[in-house]
Amino acid sequence: MSAVGIVAAAGSGLRLGADRPKALVPLGGRPLVAWAVATLLDGGVDEVVVAVPAADRDAFAAVLPDGVRLVEGGATRTASVRAALAAVPREGAAVLVHDAARPLTPPAVVARVLDALRAGAPAVVPVLPVVDTTVAVDAGGTVTAAPDRATLRRVQTPQGFSRRVLVEAYDALPDGVELTDDAAVVRAAGVPVGTVAGDERAAKVTVAHDLALAELQVAGIPG
Ligand code: C5P
Repeated sequence: MSAVGIVAAAGSGLRLGADRPKALVPLGGRPLVAWAVATLLDGGVDEVVVAVPAADRDAFAAVLPDGVRLVEGGATRTASVRAALAAVPREGAAVLVHDAARPLTPPAVVARVLDALRAGAPAVVPVLPVVDTTVAVDAGGTVTAAPDRATLRRVQTPQGFSRRVLVEAYDALPDGVELTDDAAVVRAAGVPVGTVAGDERAAKVTVAHDLALAELQVAGIPG
């Protein structure tokens, strides 16, 4: 089964406080986006499309392998993935959508997602258990609900889809509706989403503390 990877890398990284787009920030001397692309290729994806900030296209091209396709991202993650999806070749049977912000995702996670798609799942996400009690609050900060944490999962990327399912779900999503991940887009279209085991090393780099932890991981502290 042929698979195309999309990397959402068009974010600004304001929360990281960096002097460049987050995906170009170095980790172990290599930009986050280059780690994310390598994970997809090493895990079994055939080709990769990366959504980048329009103003930084040349800087991204300079740090990515030949053959990686770049597209101009949008103002939101949903818009960036939509733009990348339009550049995915029609022949691709599966599409895996990954965040540049998860640079140390092991290729084995990609392989697990691909295996689930090969087994017939229309959509699959890598997940981890929730170890903290997790609550909902109202606007005033008062706890309104505490779901049984045994039923909760933290969702990571790459998220895998049948290409047709993902394209149809994005086509059906009204302009202006912004969702935080792609599984939410296909669920909005009524498609069931399966799960495979995620990995703690696929943690998201959002603030400077996360980047410091990732540097330790690269330096060889057991993940
Ligand atoms: O902001 P957040 O960390 O949730 O972004 C997740 C991923 O989405 C990042 O890899 C970021 O580069 C990407 N993104 C994007 N286009 C945007 C905003 C975020 O590709 N407009």
